[in-house]
Amino acid sequence: MSYYKHHLFFCLNQREPGQDCCANQGAQAAFDHCKQAVKAAGLAGPGGVRVNKAGCLDRCAGGPVAVVYPEAVWYTFVDNADIDEIVESHLKNGRPVERLQLPPTVGR
Ligand code: FES
Repeated sequence: MSYYKHHLFFCLNQREPGQDCCANQGAQAAFDHCKQAVKAAGLAGPGGVRVNKAGCLDRCAGGPVAVVYPEAVWYTFVDNADIDEIVESHLKNGRPVERLQLPPTVGR
């Protein structure tokens, strides 16, 4: 059994002015909201969920992006309601949110 049931990484990368990056798309606010929502749901910690910051995940064209392991499900999102849905459906109930998944062809 893995140490965490689900391990999330949010890209918070900031690029030079004029370049696309997750930091310019609300990534920090989404990360903060996700941390709080996971904690409020009682999912945080060993055997549960860990939410971590990450640098560029090299899928910037779909930003902001986050990935959930061990399933390797990639998400993009626009607001706190999207994050809440990921927490409730995927992290709590084990059902990945299809409508928020990043298309496999999206790269940098
Ligand atoms: S800046 Fe977020 S994936 Fe590259």
